[in-house]
Amino acid sequence: MSENKIPAVIDGQKHSLRFRENGEFRVLLFTDIQGHPPVPAERTVRDMNAVIDREDPDLILLGGDICSGCETEEQLRGFLEVLTAHTEERKIPWAHVYGNHDTERIGKDLTREEEQEIYESFAYCISKAGPEEIPGVGNYVLPVYSFDVSRSDPLFAVWGLDSGAYVRDPGLPGNQAIMPNALFLGQPRSDYAYIPFTQIQWYFNSSLKMEEYAGHKVPGLMYFHIPLQEFYTVYLNPEQTGMTGVMEEGEICAGVLNSGLFTAMLERGDIRAVCCGHDHCNDYAGTYCGICLAYAANIGYDTYHHEHMMGGRMFVIREEDPADVKTYMSYINRD
Ligand SMILES: [Fe+2]
Repeated sequence: MSENKIPAVIDGQKHSLRFRENGEFRVLLFTDIQGHPPVPAERTVRDMNAVIDREDPDLILLGGDICSGCETEEQLRGFLEVLTAHTEERKIPWAHVYGNHDTERIGKDLTREEEQEIYESFAYCISKAGPEEIPGVGNYVLPVYSFDVSRSDPLFAVWGLDSGAYVRDPGLPGNQAIMPNALFLGQPRSDYAYIPFTQIQWYFNSSLKMEEYAGHKVPGLMYFHIPLQEFYTVYLNPEQTGMTGVMEEGEICAGVLNSGLFTAMLERGDIRAVCCGHDHCNDYAGTYCGICLAYAANIGYDTYHHEHMMGGRMFVIREEDPADVKTYMSYINRD
């Protein structure tokens, strides 16, 4: 490892993440719970807990649209206490990103900044608000270290990004000018936000700093809520991408502009898998340009869903070859 000091981007985490003695690091991602306060659906909590017990993850990720907006701090705290009780009791670190619904009712719901403080107050929540100078809340990277504590270079990284909400929202460049139709054939009516350049630049530069610190490229998994337009390419090329799973949503609700995040990942050459939600009834995954693009189907009984798809998406990474990320859906209603 180089003599460089730890970059701020991976410093100061509540609980550090490590490969297990058997060489595995297991990540379980749930998304689109979209629960209505005061509490999430009982079945959602029960099913999440069952998947957690079955898969025994080292890290749990919540992929956005966690709740359909909370009006008070007490409401969100109570909601999260029920949702994460089992995870906290099992002392499993967990993290989250926001979706389009979490803070949707502007002026009525808590803001992302207000919600973030409550999330981070949970003992095992290791989400970070991220730098103030870039758009969004919850842009961060979580390093994963060797089982061997004498090694201090990160071997793997989990990146969270805030993929925003809608292009009509104030503050997003060009929100007045973007035509809501015809830009993207996967979902012709999209008005969903795109990830702005400054966030992509933050990922690119942070990734460079981490590589410099580690002395080698650090393979990673990136997750955010709204899928990239490249997810549609996987659907259109099932054989070439080795696609598994299905598109039952009938469309891919990607951001309305392709702002180039996928290209940035290709140029950096570190991200091995991307996981998104947002489209509750898409659960497919496939590999395009060497990067696995994976949907997680949802686990929210308070919102629209397909029973046979409910579950979480697993990612299994091995210390001996962390660039080789394995993934599968862990379903509730299937063997
Ligand atoms: Fe969504």
